[in-house]
Amino acid sequence: MRKRIIAGNWKMYKSLEEAKSFAIEVQEKAAASEKLEAVICPPALYLSELVQITKGSAVGIGAQTMHDVKEGAFTGEISPAMLSEIGVGYVVLGHSERRQYFNETDESVNKKVHAAFDYKLTPIVCVGESLEDRESGQTVELVAGQVKKAFEGVCADLAAQAVIAYEPIWAIGTGKTATAQDANEVCGAIRTTIGELYNETVADQIRIQYGGSVKPDNIEELLTMEHIDGALVGGASLDPASFLKLLEAGA
Ligand code: G3P
Repeated sequence: MRKRIIAGNWKMYKSLEEAKSFAIEVQEKAAASEKLEAVICPPALYLSELVQITKGSAVGIGAQTMHDVKEGAFTGEISPAMLSEIGVGYVVLGHSERRQYFNETDESVNKKVHAAFDYKLTPIVCVGESLEDRESGQTVELVAGQVKKAFEGVCADLAAQAVIAYEPIWAIGTGKTATAQDANEVCGAIRTTIGELYNETVADQIRIQYGGSVKPDNIEELLTMEHIDGALVGGASLDPASFLKLLEAGA
């Protein structure tokens, strides 16, 4: 039985005060659940304070990106060692916005997946197709290709601990959610790909989230699907009441 994981990706939103009051409220109200891991991924500047606020609670903290080496002359970057040292537990890698605006590639995502494991961070590896890819029937091939490259050289034991987020680009922030059946079909194809790369056990253990306009009113149906183990949520994770509803649905 896989433990669900629901993560809020705040992107570049919220002031420090808003972030702190959100974290205080959510860590007080989010009940610990054997069925669910809850994660908040705030802007990097707020990670340290939010780790302190949520310490000992049912809520974990994740970064939205990172560099792939411990240290070096990389102006403006944050390393996996730094994240790990301050108590961050997760890192989102290869989000489509990073791929689109910051030149993230399958190769750089692969390096970062290795680096995340080196520093005991759980990678949330994002994959997903554009509308054009979907309309030309390339979805499964493209997404399977992204998964294969992201996990190149990663051993089975570590791969089983990773999280993959299937986020169709056309459903991000658009209000268009993939139908639960369509999302499940692609998440199932991702699981098959992991089975081919490793074995049935890893395929069975790895957790796959759906992301793209997930809200309190569509999460329940998504979570009934065989291959969907949680959600990576943007807009609907910004309001504490809405995020708490998402967590309730998953718990
Ligand atoms: O990473 C989460 C994301 O890209 C989905 O955003 O606003 O469609 O839930 P949203």
